[in-house]
Amino acid sequence: GTTRHYKFEIQLHNVTRLCHSKRMLTVNGKFPGPRVIAREGDRVVIKVVNHVSNNVSFHWHGIRQLLSGWADGPAYVTQCPIQSGQSYVYNFTIVGQRGTLLWHAHISWLRATLYGPIIILPKKNTSYPFAKPFKEVPMIFGEWWNADTEAVINQALQTGAGPNVSDAYTINGFPGPLYNCSANQTFKLKVKPGKTYLLRIINAALNDDLFFSIANHTFTVVEADAVYVKPFETDLLLITPGQTTNVLLKTKPYPFNTTFLMAARPYFTGQGTIDNSTVAGILEYENIPSENHSKISITGLQLPTLPPINGTSFAANFSNKFRSLATAQFPANVPQSIDKNFFFTVGLGSSPCPKNQTCQGPNGTKFAASVNNVSFTLPTTSLLQAHFFGQSNGVYTTDFPSFPITPFNYTGTPPNNTMVANGTKVVVLPFNTSVELVLQDTSILGAESHPLHLHGYNLFIVGQGFGNFDPQKDPPNYNLVDPVERNTVGVPSGGWVAIRFRADNPGVWFMHCHFEVHLSWGLKMAWIVLDGNLPNQQLPPPPSDLPKC
Ligand code: C2O
Repeated sequence: GTTRHYKFEIQLHNVTRLCHSKRMLTVNGKFPGPRVIAREGDRVVIKVVNHVSNNVSFHWHGIRQLLSGWADGPAYVTQCPIQSGQSYVYNFTIVGQRGTLLWHAHISWLRATLYGPIIILPKKNTSYPFAKPFKEVPMIFGEWWNADTEAVINQALQTGAGPNVSDAYTINGFPGPLYNCSANQTFKLKVKPGKTYLLRIINAALNDDLFFSIANHTFTVVEADAVYVKPFETDLLLITPGQTTNVLLKTKPYPFNTTFLMAARPYFTGQGTIDNSTVAGILEYENIPSENHSKISITGLQLPTLPPINGTSFAANFSNKFRSLATAQFPANVPQSIDKNFFFTVGLGSSPCPKNQTCQGPNGTKFAASVNNVSFTLPTTSLLQAHFFGQSNGVYTTDFPSFPITPFNYTGTPPNNTMVANGTKVVVLPFNTSVELVLQDTSILGAESHPLHLHGYNLFIVGQGFGNFDPQKDPPNYNLVDPVERNTVGVPSGGWVAIRFRADNPGVWFMHCHFEVHLSWGLKMAWIVLDGNLPNQQLPPPPSDLPKC
């Protein structure tokens, strides 16, 4: 492969949406940020220079980072943040992955404005396992806040309340014609009739699963999280934050200037409030295909039909449709035997209100979230540094519970005590451990779907269901032949999902809910994967420019 060089200058820039201007953090003055494009097998070298007063850190979401954990990026997990005036070079090779992923800031809520696509093309002289598309179009969903998102989350953490919600959803940064003052800020996809377009769809929203559809058109899903899947047809997509989906869009023999609306809006079953608005874009049949966002009129155009906001049955059916290709060229290497089983509850809870303070969370407490009732606290140095240099004392403990300490009816009446415990607890895995993990949603403070993301690995999703996981009845139904392989799995609202992975990548790997608010509340933990015996099973020392805390 070749080496691709990028420079990310983190700088303030004025951006206007919904007739509201704000000075916000950008990469190279762009919103959304620049596309990172590479081929499978390439080395990618990205120099990040921090010109703002905030600490920053960047994550290449879904990149496996084989033996390059120092480039993974979550602040206080694999590195200390890049401080004002400093820089850090992220250096990694893309091994065995091709498709679409995303990059985003990984500290506080800075990914609200610091995000962009990662496009991984097949190796030179290698083709897609489907007909070559006429054109490829990245479509990245996001959220827009008129307010400063750091103020939004800091206020929420102080008061214990749920954070204010966004003012709009966006496609490639554009809110579209259903929002105030946004008709001239609409994503427009210009197409020719009778062609196939590859849409590289990314959900970079902070807090919302999104339904997406284009009126009068159908998609063929061909890839998820940079892994090919068995193609299937659908006119409706559901995509969680952190997930990516490549779909083929076959255009029809419509005459020039025919236009259709596309739309995305949230799927949500939780108790809190969310932004229940709709981002729309335009599909336009044109002579000269190009994207732009000129002023549009949508009078007379029909919105595509989307499920209701709590469309859980659609969600379950849809995620069940994904299967790995599982061919000789693209095998599904599902661990068939298991060395270690884990059962993690994921959900919300509360933490006590400090004395002399009034808290606006549940029953006067503060909102919290946890895995096996542990609400994870980030250390003030990085976990990977502490692990690598044998300095774990006072940084983390290795007693993360493999199973809930006090089992309860996870999807029934919630227990009276909803308080979480705080800690910086990790699980240590010997090299090459094959892991099975059941993630069980809890209905404490309401059942809700949780997009669980694991760094450094892809997960095989071998089973899922509603209600409480049954260790006798459920495992015999696992799909160990062609389960889908993803880096982010939606734990069903009021249900469970079973995943498998082989711990063949030494390092410290964050796992967390990709709803930014749940991440802030502690729905996160980390795995330490130890080195193997061979040199190519060992994490090299950090680069010399690794930031200091
Ligand atoms: Cu895309 Cu740890 O996140």
